[in-house]
This record gives sequence, structure tokens and C-alpha cells, in this order.
Amino acid sequence: MNTADMLKEAQRILTLNDKGRYTVPTHGLYPFQWNWDSCLTALGQQHFDNDRAWLEVETLMAHQWPDGMVPHIVFHELNDGYFPGPGVWQTDRPTPTTGITQPPVLGLVLEQLWARSPQDDATRARCLRLMAGADRWHQWFYLCRDPEDTGLVALLHPWESGRDNSIDWFEALSAVPIDKVEPYQRRDTQHVDASHRPTQFEYDRYVALVQCFRNLKWDNTLLHDASPFQVVDPGFNAILIHSDQCLARLASALGEAALARAAQARCTLALQAMETLWNGDMGQYVCLNRRTGQLVDSPSIGGLLPVLVLPVGHPKLAALSQRLHRLLDLAPFGVASHWPEDDRFDGKRYWRGPSWLIVNYLLIKGLIESGEEALAERIVQASLKSIEESGCSEYYHPITGEALGGGTFTWTAAMVIEFLTYHAQALSD
Ligand code: SER
Repeated sequence: MNTADMLKEAQRILTLNDKGRYTVPTHGLYPFQWNWDSCLTALGQQHFDNDRAWLEVETLMAHQWPDGMVPHIVFHELNDGYFPGPGVWQTDRPTPTTGITQPPVLGLVLEQLWARSPQDDATRARCLRLMAGADRWHQWFYLCRDPEDTGLVALLHPWESGRDNSIDWFEALSAVPIDKVEPYQRRDTQHVDASHRPTQFEYDRYVALVQCFRNLKWDNTLLHDASPFQVVDPGFNAILIHSDQCLARLASALGEAALARAAQARCTLALQAMETLWNGDMGQYVCLNRRTGQLVDSPSIGGLLPVLVLPVGHPKLAALSQRLHRLLDLAPFGVASHWPEDDRFDGKRYWRGPSWLIVNYLLIKGLIESGEEALAERIVQASLKSIEESGCSEYYHPITGEALGGGTFTWTAAMVIEFLTYHAQALSD
């Protein structure tokens, strides 16, 4: 497929999944609005419809909770083809939402949307409103997910990470009691091959955590301490820090000095704290199980995502780049989500091995900003190779390029547009 055909196909998919004010990740498997899917989708939409791109994130942010949390799913319409639906979450919101959050990519997306928009008063007003919402969300993170001011926030549910069934969570998840789990029926495996999805072991614990938080009426002043699952993920924290870095730059550019200072102060503290997650033997960052105080022995992509935030010349950047090169040697179709030489690697199962274009995008963005263009270019090419091999799928076998999970997938299509336009330009500059 040539570049023009790839762009045409990506735009067709974004239009196919467009519900007017928001976009579903794919019909059937994910019939609602997902938080980080939507934000990253806006980047692709902007290349052919600037107004629609802003609307995508505005729709999400209209459902921000009064305490600042931005939910991971907004259930805009009824659809019983998905589990767990609003009846399980019981969050008591005007439009039902889930009660947990997702990786906060909004800050980094806003900076891009603004930079590529006509910078008129109307767009500026839109941008300022969304920036204020992102700032409140980030404040919520440090208040509710880092109550002891360690500088790093914890995830209370694997779904918050976006990397649902990563090996990173296995040990912490094993400690979640499941004796009170109500009977349920999964829907995901009716849409896609069960061998590509999380296992029953994981789903039982996902549901147990939802029930635990539901019993606390989703009161975010209580959830952190009550949760049997508290994991600090370097990848998630890197995304939050990077979004704050972007917010600080954007706020300065728009004359919002107080917001810029607040965002900058948050990322300075968080960046220092990130060093406590370094595993020298592995040569990358790893998760911390906050319940046990132990670092987690799991070489996943979460520990490489800090390339997004490390300043040029940071001593850990070279180690992470070396590891990314090795990953691409081992698995050439994108960046594997788990180290292929680890016994627990599973190239087909969701976040236990497959490569995902949105992760590739985040890595590329960080690498370009830290001057590692050759590696960034290698990841762009590896990503496009999986598209040529298998089309815009949800994720890919990182060794064979086989299409996995849902098809005609929105954020994959958005990233294809991003790679073929913006990144192509940034890498040729
Ligand atoms: N990724 C989850 C699912 O598979 C929810 O965010 O349903």
C-alpha cells in the first residue's frame, strides 16, 4: 500500500467509527467513548477536520467528575454487548461513566491540537477551557492517588493503566480477594478470539475491584487506602509527567503563568521520584507494588516509556534506547509490550507481548524530543510494516505482524495518519 492509500484507509476508519461527537474504538467490542482512545483519536481527526478534533476531547471533558477525575469510559448510549456496563459500575452520574480513570494523554494532545490550529480567539477559548480541565485532573491525581506525597501516583485497577493484562500486575492482582464476586458473563470473547484477550483469572479480579470501589460509593478520598491493588507504573507516571510538561509549555504560551508554574512544579517532583523505580540489572524502570513496597520483576514496555520525559543527556536515556533497539531486533513489527525473551511473554495476548501503535507513538514522540531520531525512525518503520502486513488492527503480534484483537481500529488509524504526516515531517527536519 502506498502512502496515499494508507492515509485514505485511515481516514475511512475514523469516519466509520465516528458517532458525531465522539468516536468508538471499534464497533462491537468497544461501543462507547474511551478516555485515552478519544484523546489520541483527535490527533488523527485534526488532519482532515480541525473542529471535529476539538469536539472529540470536549465531549470527553464534559463528563469530568466534580472532584476532577476524568472517567475511563463514557456510556453515551445503551449497549449490552459490553461487559461491565453501567449497571455494574453504578457511579450515579448524569450520563453513566465508569468510576476509574485512564492514562492522561490529554495534556500532550492539547499542545499538539493548539500548535496545528488556526490560533484565533474562538480556538484559544476552547483550548483554555480544556487546559483548565486537564489541570484539575492532574491535581486530582496527586491528591487522590499519591496521598503520602511520594511524587508518583498509583493505579487502583489494571484497566486504569490501559495495559489491562500486563504481567506487571500479576502479583498485585493475585492478592485481590474474589470470594464475593457476583456471577457475570464476559462479552469481549464473543467479539474476538479469546486467546487474544485477558484470562478468567484476571477478569474475576477486575470485577472484584469494581465491586470493592462501588461499595465505597466511588468516594475518591477513600479508594486509594482501601484498594487491595495499588501499583505505581513508570509508564503511566511518565505519561502524566509528560502531559504536565506539555501543559506547562502551553500555559506559558497562552499567558497562563500560574497554571504553568503549578504544572512545572508537579513534574519536577515526579521526575525525581521516578528514579526510585530504576532496576539497574534490567537496565530499565519497573513497577512498584505499593501494597508490599516491592519493585516488580517484569520487563514490560511500561518501564521504557520514561523516554517521554527524560531530559536530553539524562544518564538513563542511553540504556533505554539500547533496550528499545534490542526489542526491535527480537520483534520487528512495532515495539513488543513485554520482553520476548521472558518466559511469560505471549505474543498474541493483549498486553503480554503484542505491539500497539499508540505506545509506538509515545515512544517516538519522546525519542524525537530527546534527539534520538534514528531510533524514532526505526519505530515508525516497524509500525508501518505492521499496517502494510495486516491493516489497522487493535494490536499486532510483534514477531509475525499478525493482526490481533478488534479490526478497523480507531486509534491505530489515527496513529497511521500521525506517522505519515507529522512524524514524517519532524524526522525530515
Ligand atoms: N480495555 C478494557 C476492555 O477490554 C477496558 O478499558 O474492556
